[in-house]
Amino acid sequence: MARRNSSRVVLGVGGGISAYKSVDLTRRLKERGCEVRVVMTQAATAFVGPLTFQAVSGHPVRTTLLDPAAEAGMGHIELARWADRLLIAPATADLMARLAAGIADDLLTTLALATEAPLSLAPAMNQAMWRHPATQRNLDILRSRGAQILGPAEGGQACGDVGPGRMLEPLEIADIIRPPTGAPLAGARVLLTAGPTREPLDPVRFLGNRSSGKMGFALAEALTDLGARVVLVSGPTALPAPRVAEQVCVETALEMHAAVLSRAADCDLFVATAAVADYRPAEPLGQKIKKDAGELTLRLVRNPDILAEVAARRPPPFTVGFAAETDRVEEYARDKLVRKGLDLIAANHVGGARGGFERDENALTLIWKDGSRELPMRGKTQLARELALLIVERYLERHATPT
Ligand code: PMT
Repeated sequence: MARRNSSRVVLGVGGGISAYKSVDLTRRLKERGCEVRVVMTQAATAFVGPLTFQAVSGHPVRTTLLDPAAEAGMGHIELARWADRLLIAPATADLMARLAAGIADDLLTTLALATEAPLSLAPAMNQAMWRHPATQRNLDILRSRGAQILGPAEGGQACGDVGPGRMLEPLEIADIIRPPTGAPLAGARVLLTAGPTREPLDPVRFLGNRSSGKMGFALAEALTDLGARVVLVSGPTALPAPRVAEQVCVETALEMHAAVLSRAADCDLFVATAAVADYRPAEPLGQKIKKDAGELTLRLVRNPDILAEVAARRPPPFTVGFAAETDRVEEYARDKLVRKGLDLIAANHVGGARGGFERDENALTLIWKDGSRELPMRGKTQLARELALLIVERYLERHATPT
């Protein structure tokens, strides 16, 4: 499988005078290894002709949603799926308002709703429009959904005003959007747990949970794609074997504990995605339990906390935990981050209508000592790629900071 380091960029061009800068932006993105497909709003075509972008990007430019010829090629849904990132530059006040409201009245805003790729916006507008409470409110909404806001810069504007609202320079934007070069985790050894555990009651029954392994397997592949050597310790799942260096299959929490602890000295990063049973039956029976009695009392004993034990090692690997919560998600996750001594925790809401266990999609709140980031609801594959990039960022920062 080809590596995809956020290199497929759909560049949405809004209708502002800065649209001319996006021609250079297209070139700069290509220089940095991105494949670029340009989508223009009707207003943008009043500033720059689509042919200019076609010549620079090397691909036909899309300007309308209902274009049978273009849809016969790469349809808008295909384009939405193709993108690793949707970058809108310039993002005008009107475009941001439509995006915040979830309006899909042209090709670009429809793509923004249809894609699971992360959204980056380079706002460009008159300084009074930028400062207007309506624009600032829309900005807050877009930020809270995970949009990356690039700029704007301050200075003289085309209209003669001075203040915030200038689009960042193409070089600055391209340097932020560029795919990570090479393999940032080359040489790093990752130990990752995934899936559920099964705690036997007797030879035919067990206590288990709803984890399918999807989140953990997707993350194992995303970290492999960034160059890491990933050893996956997985509980029972119905998933095909992922692209990892080694997969160790276990069933119980005690087996997972043994498999992890025997390898913990040889890992640089430990990622605990597994839903490990906190308790196991104290005395699993050798024969099938008979239903003779009207009531049955089970005695459970605590399982070891694998994540806490690995984080307590000296020196500890870079440790990433997950927190699956049904309520007070962030509060409980922060408590786990501190109590277990983790570098990073990915909190998710479980038991709701979307995301969490078993589903193909999920949303995460990433929390570390002095920061946090929201990754809104999207497919687990895309979500895992973004989490993997943040793990790289935090891991490299920890190694750059003298202790
Ligand atoms: O597998 P999927 O269907 O795709 O679902 C994904 C998921 C919901 C399972 C995943 O996103 C997730 O949240 N995994 C962690 C589930 C969990 O057990 O959370 P917890 O809050 O109970 O545990 C906190 C952390 O400690 C976790 O990193 C867990 O792996 C770890 N732990 C817990 C208990 C234990 N005995 N040992 C551990 O290592």
